[in-house]
Amino acid sequence: MREVVEFRFACKHFDVSKKIDDGVLHELMDLTRLSPSSYGLQPWKFIVIKNDELKKALAPACYNQPQIVEASCVVVMCARTDVSKVLEEFSAKSKADMGYTDEQSEGFKKMVNSVILSKSDDEIKTWAQKQVYLAGMNLMTVSAEKGIDSCPMEGFEASKVSEILGLSKELTATLIIPLGYRNMEQPKKTRFDFADVVEERE
Ligand SMILES: Cc1cc2nc3c(=O)[nH]c(=O)nc-3n(C[C@H](O)[C@H](O)[C@H](O)COP(=O)(O)O)c2cc1C
Repeated sequence: MREVVEFRFACKHFDVSKKIDDGVLHELMDLTRLSPSSYGLQPWKFIVIKNDELKKALAPACYNQPQIVEASCVVVMCARTDVSKVLEEFSAKSKADMGYTDEQSEGFKKMVNSVILSKSDDEIKTWAQKQVYLAGMNLMTVSAEKGIDSCPMEGFEASKVSEILGLSKELTATLIIPLGYRNMEQPKKTRFDFADVVEERE
């Protein structure tokens, strides 16, 4: 596992001649789909962009960071803010998958409604975005395990990205992750020491 974690770094330059195999990319996104989320609600949507023209169109909204056009594909990880709809969809899906009774399913909806839907719109967006970050980390780790490089990116203008991709208003572009194969040396890591960040309590 150390090897996988140490392989990952924020890759700034990708080899434009190397493309990720479609089957591998599908597997990466399928594994990302299994990420944990609060109450299991999965308030997210992942938009995978392989088209060069679309990547080019997106670049200015990402401050022309080179990763966007150089990467084999760009995953725009969006948070869903239509939480009531997410809850309805998830209740139906989990009921079918897990065999919950009507009573269990209704009880779950009531409980989540009281917790999540009591939040303001801003709080709901923040809550949904937190879930997206977890999925983003998973995507980068499963990619690293397959020798695929990535870069987590917050350096973009969400409203412009939304306009270019024609996102519906319930989707907020939260994290952009270009994926591909490195075309640069991996830099040394700089991190706080173990004792600075881990406090062990007996
Ligand atoms: C939430 C988040 C947003 C980031 N945004 C950008 C970005 O827009 N552009 C970029 O080149 N790197 C971005 N980074 C990469 C960080 O600078 C990088 O992860 C950090 O310096 C540690 O280096 P490493 O990932 O290579 O270990 C971002 C990282 C995170 C976690």
